[in-house]
Amino acid sequence: MGSGMARNLLKGGYEVIVHNRSPDKAADMKRFGAIVALSPEEVARQAEIVVLSLPNSETVATVVLGKRGLAEGLRKGSVVIDTSTIDPTVAIEIAGELKARGSYFLDSPVSGGPEGAKAGTLTIMVGGDALAYERSKHVLQKMGKSIFYLGESGAGQKMKLANQSLVGVYFVAIAETYRLATGIGVKGEDLLRVISTSWGDSPVFRHFMKVVKSGNYEDGASIKLMVKDLSIVRGISEKEEIPMSLAKLSLAHFRKASDGGHADLDMSYISRVLEG
Ligand SMILES: NC(=O)c1ccc[n+]([C@@H]2O[C@H](COP(=O)([O-])OP(=O)(O)OC[C@H]3O[C@@H](n4cnc5c(N)ncnc54)[C@H](OP(=O)(O)O)[C@@H]3O)[C@@H](O)[C@H]2O)c1
Repeated sequence: MGSGMARNLLKGGYEVIVHNRSPDKAADMKRFGAIVALSPEEVARQAEIVVLSLPNSETVATVVLGKRGLAEGLRKGSVVIDTSTIDPTVAIEIAGELKARGSYFLDSPVSGGPEGAKAGTLTIMVGGDALAYERSKHVLQKMGKSIFYLGESGAGQKMKLANQSLVGVYFVAIAETYRLATGIGVKGEDLLRVISTSWGDSPVFRHFMKVVKSGNYEDGASIKLMVKDLSIVRGISEKEEIPMSLAKLSLAHFRKASDGGHADLDMSYISRVLEG
C-alpha cells in the first residue's frame, strides 16, 4: 500500500523521503525519485507531513513513539497521517502524545486495496484535529479519490472497522456462494456477468472473482490483515456488549486460514479453506 501511495505523491510533484524496516524496499523507491532515510526520526526531521502505512497498532506505536521514532524528530506543527488500520484507542493515545509535543496525528485508514493505492483512488477516512486536516488534505488528495473528514481522533479508525466488518463477512459469504453455485453447475463467467448487475454485486465480489479466476493469491489484501481487523472489531463489540455473530464467524474462518499457513495469501483464498 505504501509504495503505491508514495509513487502518487512523487507523481504529484512532492519531494518524498521514504523509510522502511527492510532497506531493499525503501531503496526500490529511489528509482522513482524518492530520498531514503535510515529511521523514522530522520524522516520526521526533514518533513512537514509524514504518511505511515504499517501492519498493526504495535508497529505504529513503535514507529511513532519508540527509539529513533518520529516523535524524536518531528517539528512543531508537523502532521502525521497514519493510513494503517489500527485500534482506534491506540490512535487516540498516539494523537494525545503528539499533541502534547506540539504536532498532530490524523488517523486516516484507507480502503481500495493495492490497486486503489496504485491508481490514487483510495477512500480515506480521517479523524483528528480539523485544522491539521485542512493543512494536509492536499497530500490525501494525491492518494485518494473519496476523502472524508469524520471528526475527532479515532473517528477514521472507527469507520474503517465498520467497513472491515462488512468486508470480512462479505468474503466468507461470497466464497460460500461461489462454492454452492459452481458446485451445482453455474459457470464462473456467468456468475460474474449476472451478479455484477444484481444486488449480490460488490467490489469484494468482483475482486474475489478476479483472483479466483487468475489463481494468483500472492498479491492483494492478505488474510493476516483481516484477522487483525476482525480481532479489533471483536474486541470492541465485546467491550461495548454489541453482539456480532457474523463478524465472529468470519474471524474464525480467517483465523483457520491463517493458522493453516495461508496468512500472507489474498483473502479470496478463504474459499479454499471452506472446502474443509
Ligand atoms: N493490503 C490491503 O489491501 C490494504 C487495504 C487497506 C488498508 N490496508 C492497511 O494498510 C496497512 C499496510 O498494509 P500492507 O498490505 O501494505 O502491508 P505490508 O505489505 O505488510 O506493508 C507494511 C510495510 O511496513 C513495513 N514495516 C513493518 N514494520 C516496520 C517498522 N517497524 N518500520 C518501518 N517499516 C516497517 C513492512 O516492512 P517489512 O518488509 O520489513 O515487513 C512493509 O513494507 C495495514 O495496516 C493494512 O491493514 C491494507
